[in-house]
Amino acid sequence: KKYVWLDVDPGHDDATAIMLAVNSPEIHLLGVSTTHGNASSDHTAINAARCLLAFGGPSHVRVYPGSNEPLLLPARHDPEIHGIDGLGGVEGLPEANSSAVAALFAQNEDGTQVRALEGMSKIIKETWKNGSGHQVTVISTGPMTNIANFVSVYSDLLPAVEEFVFMGGGVGMGNRSSVAEFNILCDPHATQIVLNAPVKKTMMPINVTHTAIVTRKIHSLILSPEISSIPLEGLPAAASNLRHTLSTLITFFADSYKSTFGFNDGPPLHDALTIAYVARPELFKTTRYRVDVELTGEHTIGETVVDMWNYRKCDGTWGRTGKNCLVAESMNVEAFFEMFLET
Ligand code: BDR
Ligand code: CA
Repeated sequence: KKYVWLDVDPGHDDATAIMLAVNSPEIHLLGVSTTHGNASSDHTAINAARCLLAFGGPSHVRVYPGSNEPLLLPARHDPEIHGIDGLGGVEGLPEANSSAVAALFAQNEDGTQVRALEGMSKIIKETWKNGSGHQVTVISTGPMTNIANFVSVYSDLLPAVEEFVFMGGGVGMGNRSSVAEFNILCDPHATQIVLNAPVKKTMMPINVTHTAIVTRKIHSLILSPEISSIPLEGLPAAASNLRHTLSTLITFFADSYKSTFGFNDGPPLHDALTIAYVARPELFKTTRYRVDVELTGEHTIGETVVDMWNYRKCDGTWGRTGKNCLVAESMNVEAFFEMFLET
């Protein structure tokens, strides 16, 4: 099993990533931290808790709210894609102000919430036990502010990290500027800090996530009772309406992608691919490159610059001087959706 820490900004596709993370047999989820991104950090933290409840998160998993803002830039959100609260149009989730949601936040002895940096460092340290336990795969599906803070503050825990896997960036393409993808554009400086860390990394860029389109056919399969061998009665009460919840999620996301980007066939499930990659890496083709982020360009800030020909003669390390990142280049789309539907 992979021991996984998940950092999210739910977000429709983040919600599907949570669903896969808590229900994939290959993954042992340790905790969920949240960041500003698709919506404000207040919304994303509550949304993560609502998703864990709805999708059957294991009882030990808690939510740890993280950064409210990027390291340097002002925060930006994306209501055009995800609605004001980050999960626009999604029906059947537990109420934001319910006691079940409140109970999912880890608490300090004085009753305050445990924040992302404290929670993730403590749990990663406990899991690793100075090398005698398990390394942890840290998956990020939003702006990487929390992860950059972890890398900077807890550099002594980097040997405990098996890999950083992040959804973000593009190879020669963007979605929230001509060349920048949303997650990286929100906090380019944080991304560069993570990219410089001497730890293995994998980037899941939009070039690949745009192949994971929830077509009408796949949407209809979600609603059809035959597809799953898992009886819904086995799931918690909040999930009894799971098919309807997912269907409303996909409908809203499809409408956003149609009106904003002209996607007529359906929306891409970006963030879910990170979980599929950790659970089933054989579904993906990756190549190792030097990747950096454009931090100053007037038209190019937030672009992921991928040195495909090793022009810079980078070495074999994962840090500042090396080919620092595996970049996903393709995915077995059919197998991905089989996994998604089975989940
Ligand atoms: C990324 O930005 C958000 O809209 C999604 O949740 C995903 O993480 C795609 O560019
Ligand atoms: Ca996201």
